[in-house]
Amino acid sequence: SIPLLIDTDPGVDDALALLMAFADTRHEVVGLTIAAGNVGLRHTVANALKLCEVAGRNDIPVYAGCAAPLLHPSPDAGNVHGLDGFGDVGYAAAARAAEAEHAAQAIVRLSHVHAGKLVLVALGPLTNVALALKLDPTLPERIARLVVMGGAVTCHGNITPAAEFNVYFDPEAAHIVFGAFDHFDLSDWEATVAHGLHHDSVVEWLRAGGDVAAFYERISRKTREWSADRRGDHWHSADGLAMAFALHPEGALETAERPLDVALEGPHSRGATLVDWQRQTGRPDRARILLRYDQARFEQLVRGAIGVA
Ligand code: BDR
Ligand code: CA
Repeated sequence: SIPLLIDTDPGVDDALALLMAFADTRHEVVGLTIAAGNVGLRHTVANALKLCEVAGRNDIPVYAGCAAPLLHPSPDAGNVHGLDGFGDVGYAAAARAAEAEHAAQAIVRLSHVHAGKLVLVALGPLTNVALALKLDPTLPERIARLVVMGGAVTCHGNITPAAEFNVYFDPEAAHIVFGAFDHFDLSDWEATVAHGLHHDSVVEWLRAGGDVAAFYERISRKTREWSADRRGDHWHSADGLAMAFALHPEGALETAERPLDVALEGPHSRGATLVDWQRQTGRPDRARILLRYDQARFEQLVRGAIGVA
């Protein structure tokens, strides 16, 4: 099986992505490294531990990472995911605690353990991955594939007009990561919007599932209501789509490879991903950008994650 390391800031859509990874028989999740982002690190760590417990996956080690972006503090997304990141349902804390090792050190160590095979999926701000690169700049040599949920490739952002949340939260980290990997896969906010899940279908699937689905139904209710109010019939699961691309890249029906960087300055542009669509910079193509994914396959993976055939 393919070793999968997930850097994540759960987060309701992170949780769906994690369940998708747990359900996949071709991959083995070797660890969760936890970022701050959707909410503070205390909550994202607690949420990761709780999700593992509910899913019966206490065998997966959880490593706490950076509590803040590399340089500048940034607002979280508690308005979308709930103040605790899991819909404020008041769940009982998991019995297990996180490992003592820091997430950035775990990323470096696991890249040695699974050298040349490890798939690293980043579903949150890239702070931990950037720090891992500073600890060991040879990291990309041992990563078989990096898949990132982040960016808005034609600047239709979800947190500012131009920027997507994960990149906006820690633009310096994204700049470091995007500059360090010669090739990486990107599933951005605009692909997310193009691959919505109809709210009625999601409700139907969640009702048909077992205990894990019931837990997910509770923690996702607030964010689904928020989304229905603001964005209409479809729910946009950014991290779910990124995980589909990570687990089953053959489901990608259309991609584009281009140079890509991040704007670090400017009141309007900070955190925007700048894709050199017309290859004007002469810089090498780095990002394989997901444009279209097999929707039926995506939905099948989501159903599988919550235990519905
Ligand atoms: C991303 O930001 C977070 O709110 C989600 O978990 C996802 O990773 C979407 O912009
Ligand atoms: Ca996330």
